[in-house]
Amino acid sequence: MKKLNIGIYGFGTVGQGLYTVLQKSKTVDATLSAICVKHENKKRNLHLPLLTFDPNRILDNPEINVVAELIDDADEAYLLVKKALKKGKNVVSGNKKMLAAHLEEMIQLQKETGQSLLYDASACGSIPIIRNLEEYYDNDLLKSITGILNGSSNYILTQIFREGKDYATALKEAQELGFAESNPDADVQGYDALYKLVIITAHAFGPVIPAEKVFRFGIDQITNFDVRFAKEKNLKIKLVAKVTKTGKDEITLFVAPEFVNKENYIFNVEDEYNGVVIEGEFYDKQFMFGKGAGAYPTGSAVLSDITAISHQYKYEYKKRKYFALPRFTNRLSLTVYLRYHQEEDLALFDFDEIYENYKGRENRYVIGKICLEKLVKINNEIEKRQLFLAVFNE
Ligand SMILES: NC(=O)c1ccc[n+]([C@@H]2O[C@H](COP(=O)([O-])OP(=O)(O)OC[C@H]3O[C@@H](n4cnc5c(N)ncnc54)[C@H](OP(=O)(O)O)[C@@H]3O)[C@@H](O)[C@H]2O)c1
Repeated sequence: MKKLNIGIYGFGTVGQGLYTVLQKSKTVDATLSAICVKHENKKRNLHLPLLTFDPNRILDNPEINVVAELIDDADEAYLLVKKALKKGKNVVSGNKKMLAAHLEEMIQLQKETGQSLLYDASACGSIPIIRNLEEYYDNDLLKSITGILNGSSNYILTQIFREGKDYATALKEAQELGFAESNPDADVQGYDALYKLVIITAHAFGPVIPAEKVFRFGIDQITNFDVRFAKEKNLKIKLVAKVTKTGKDEITLFVAPEFVNKENYIFNVEDEYNGVVIEGEFYDKQFMFGKGAGAYPTGSAVLSDITAISHQYKYEYKKRKYFALPRFTNRLSLTVYLRYHQEEDLALFDFDEIYENYKGRENRYVIGKICLEKLVKINNEIEKRQLFLAVFNE
């Protein structure tokens, strides 16, 4: 077991969580040498002699062999992680936005430098999905991964469905309780779930899919009408992220609200929890459940990666190594519920087939078949409109 000397970037929710779990852990033999943060005038809970505002105090210290990158700025995180790997340090990161954008380069950098970059905390916080995909599901028998990957939006949807609150009230409460950011867009518009899905896909199937090629729709336009529609059919709406093998050599991905029934494993994933269903050729479905965010759950995931580094663990990216990479396709037909106001909004969609068409005084909806390819093309446009869509689980 390797003796670790750690430098941490970031002392916010996750950095402080890691600090606490590190003090309590008896299994890892580690020294904490420096904690680098950004704002010099910020009041801190702790006065730490380890605190620095100079990133080079970690980068230039040859004693530090593990860097925990836990900052909230994806661009800066990219530079720091790159520099740390090039300086011969192992790195642990929780930054899904940075990883989703730069994973291909990060895989290459690990090869070139021989250092390890671990990031289980970046997808589903405390749920060890990435290492399990690497080590346990290291064959090509996976069929799909479906998950509730964002705790904030799940908390809001739970308040709406279970407590009967409207979207604005549920969001405000989630922000007051610290389950949602003051700017909640990344969570409620599905970006956060999408970044995690990109990372999960690389470990489940091999390829790094550019996030901008994937259809993404969030929950911020949901109304009481949509909720009533689902409840009348004993369904809930969840923000679901999904990667599916559509053919022998093809995978498809999307993030969208989805109707789920009580037979679905994610039906009972409530509040700020995350849940991931792994479907395989021979074992059918398996389910992982747990806290996807928060100081201690995420701090524990970071500590687990640090411990793995002490055992010289590296991701091998086995799906890329041993199997031909599947192609990414958006050629998948989905059954979609679309609630809209203006006929011109409906026209944007160009449904292939419409099964149900409802026109009330205030609300209109259609249910029909549409190809993901068409949805990706209008993704930016439909976000600006007063409409909501949800996918039927098939
Ligand atoms: N929060 C969660 O539950 C959770 C779960 C999974 C993954 N993550 C990921 O973990 C990362 C950290 O999230 P967080 O919630 O802990 O963020 P946070 O509470 O906002 O804290 C961010 C920390 O980063 C520091 N920082 C920002 N830019 C910096 C820079 N250039 N150099 C050094 N320090 C810098 C800030 O310094 P100051 O203190 O000086 O402002 C602050 O201490 C993000 O990538 C997030 O996506 C978070």
